[in-house]
Amino acid sequence: MIPIQQDPGNTQWPDSGSEVSSQDTGRLIYASISSVDVPVLDEMRRIRDHAVIHNQESGLRVALMHRCGWFVEWIEGPPDGIKDLLARVSLDERHRSLKIVHESVGRPRLFKPWIGSIAEPTESAGEFARRVMALHERHLRNKGYEPASVWRSLCSPLPGHVEVAAAREGTYQRVMLMAAKQTGSFDLLHWLSRETERPVVHRRFAGAAQDALDVESDYIDLPDQAKQGRRLIANARKGLAMGMTHAFLPDYSAVVLMLDATAERNEQVLERILKACQQVHHQPAVIGLGADGWFSDSLRSATEARGMRWHEARTGNNAPDKAEQWWALRQILDQL
Ligand SMILES: Cc1cc2nc3c(=O)[nH]c(=O)nc-3n(C[C@H](O)[C@H](O)[C@H](O)COP(=O)(O)O)c2cc1C
Repeated sequence: MIPIQQDPGNTQWPDSGSEVSSQDTGRLIYASISSVDVPVLDEMRRIRDHAVIHNQESGLRVALMHRCGWFVEWIEGPPDGIKDLLARVSLDERHRSLKIVHESVGRPRLFKPWIGSIAEPTESAGEFARRVMALHERHLRNKGYEPASVWRSLCSPLPGHVEVAAAREGTYQRVMLMAAKQTGSFDLLHWLSRETERPVVHRRFAGAAQDALDVESDYIDLPDQAKQGRRLIANARKGLAMGMTHAFLPDYSAVVLMLDATAERNEQVLERILKACQQVHHQPAVIGLGADGWFSDSLRSATEARGMRWHEARTGNNAPDKAEQWWALRQILDQL
């Protein structure tokens, strides 16, 4: 996936440094068939240039995705503003057959005026269309799912068709892996993929702003683990600054910090994780993973001071290999 977004490459988020509002807001998601025949990335950037200005003026926040020949747009903000945007966008010739798949008032998830993403197709346009129609029909019958579930079922679906995946949504265990240094979280996923013969889904997040850096996020589904299945998501440290990460942070039941031998480094990255969680009012379990000597009391006290639980997945005296890391981590994850 290649989100094109406005985020800077740092983790000073949100821009004000304050907590985000949890006041109810209007929420709408539609899907439409793309008519774009020029490179999609260029067109997304053109849309972004208008959207950033207009959306900010009307208090709207939007996530837009292009996948399998479809656009999916998730809009949050004042219901009248959403209505106006929908009326304007419906006239746009860059897409057609607009179908609403979610509409409600509830807790906000999007905190940036615009987040864009391009996801590589992992299914045919026909399969994607069937998923859109199933969600549209549920919406018409007032049986729609939460916006994050609707978005995910179009953008990074759980294994199985819409109904099967939706039944698992609430109980699927989502775990974020983040390495204090280097790429240990991605390496562990790739090792796990070979061990379990489950595919790693690659997504690449690229900043459209000239100075924003690319960000990657891979995931692997382990549907036979945990009570109803488990998804492990490897995030880059700079991904903590991205709007898409914040939108989905409330769904993680655990965040794993893969420790490094340098105590200061561990403390810095933990601080960034804790801050991001606090800003979106979410308290996942926080798990430190690494050799015995890499743990320090300050990690536990910093986590508990923010009201979160601290767990230790200890691997023994020496720097662990992947099998040792996974064994230690799984003991904790299975108990959550
Ligand atoms: C899929 C899609 C999504 C769009 N999303 C937005 C949006 O979130 N905000 C916005 O102002 N324009 C959006 N646009 C563009 C509008 O349709 C319209 O072209 C634009 O707002 C007109 O801006 P202007 O009055 O400055 O020319 C989108 C267009 C497409 C095709």
